[in-house]
Amino acid sequence: MTQEQPAKQRFNKIVLVAFGGPSSSGKTTSAAAIKSLFKHAILIHLDDFYIADSKIPIDSATGYQNWDCPEALDFNLFENYLKKLKSGQGLEEKLESRQPSVDLKLNQEEEQLLLNKIQLKIPDSETTLFILVDGFMLFHDPKILELFDVNLFFRASFETLRDRRESRDGYNTVEGFWVDPPHYFEKIVWPAFVSSHKYLFENEDINSKLLDNIKSSYKLHDIINENGSNLIDLVGWSIDNIAQDIN
Ligand SMILES: Nc1ncnc2c1ncn2[C@@H]1O[C@H](COP(=O)(O)OP(=O)(O)OP(=O)(O)O)[C@@H](O)[C@H]1O
Ligand SMILES: [Mg+2]
Repeated sequence: MTQEQPAKQRFNKIVLVAFGGPSSSGKTTSAAAIKSLFKHAILIHLDDFYIADSKIPIDSATGYQNWDCPEALDFNLFENYLKKLKSGQGLEEKLESRQPSVDLKLNQEEEQLLLNKIQLKIPDSETTLFILVDGFMLFHDPKILELFDVNLFFRASFETLRDRRESRDGYNTVEGFWVDPPHYFEKIVWPAFVSSHKYLFENEDINSKLLDNIKSSYKLHDIINENGSNLIDLVGWSIDNIAQDIN
């Protein structure tokens, strides 16, 4: 009987790819599509690292729980977990996820086109393990940002994000299910995103361009995902940037 090699030895390379950006920007949709294309890929959701529901900070102005600030997450646990995976340990352990499945998917023809692209641009993809990390708070702190080999920043306008967010039923939490109260996006979600990400932008304006020195020093790539954008383009762009940053 042949013994299976430990996970660490089966891969020539382990790369961590961040799918960051505000809520409803298309991170989970894009990351799930990419996962289906790579031979060896794990998808990790930052949303699985929330602290207990009863400990979520309360926003003093509205009295609402603030699920969108960094303090709502256990970053120590998250950081240690990613470091362990990156070093090739714990790869066999399955982390139970509370994430629902996605509603936007690639069709067969699109998948084939993208598989060809991967073969061409990432020739060693079959011996590489891709750890795909999906989260709304991956770029607020350079200490977290620097954990990744590739940083993909999904963006969209306030209006698009609000409309997408408001059409969602809610979110599974550690202890239950969260449904946004009225105006939660403009009162909590958007301001939390702006205050934690404005340092990345020209004139601290979230609607402006990323600062050139930030883009180059953190190798941060951004894309606008409005409703006219196609999933195949988002995924193709992700593959191009992964290929560029890991080869
Ligand atoms: N280009 C697009 N056109 C139309 N709908 C889109 C597009 N991109 C994403 N969506 C839809 O927007 C919603 C949010 O997308 P998704 O769940 O991927 O966002 P997210 O960034 O993971 O958000 P969160 O941080 O809240 O989990 C989904 O219903 C998805 O199908
Ligand atoms: Mg998501």
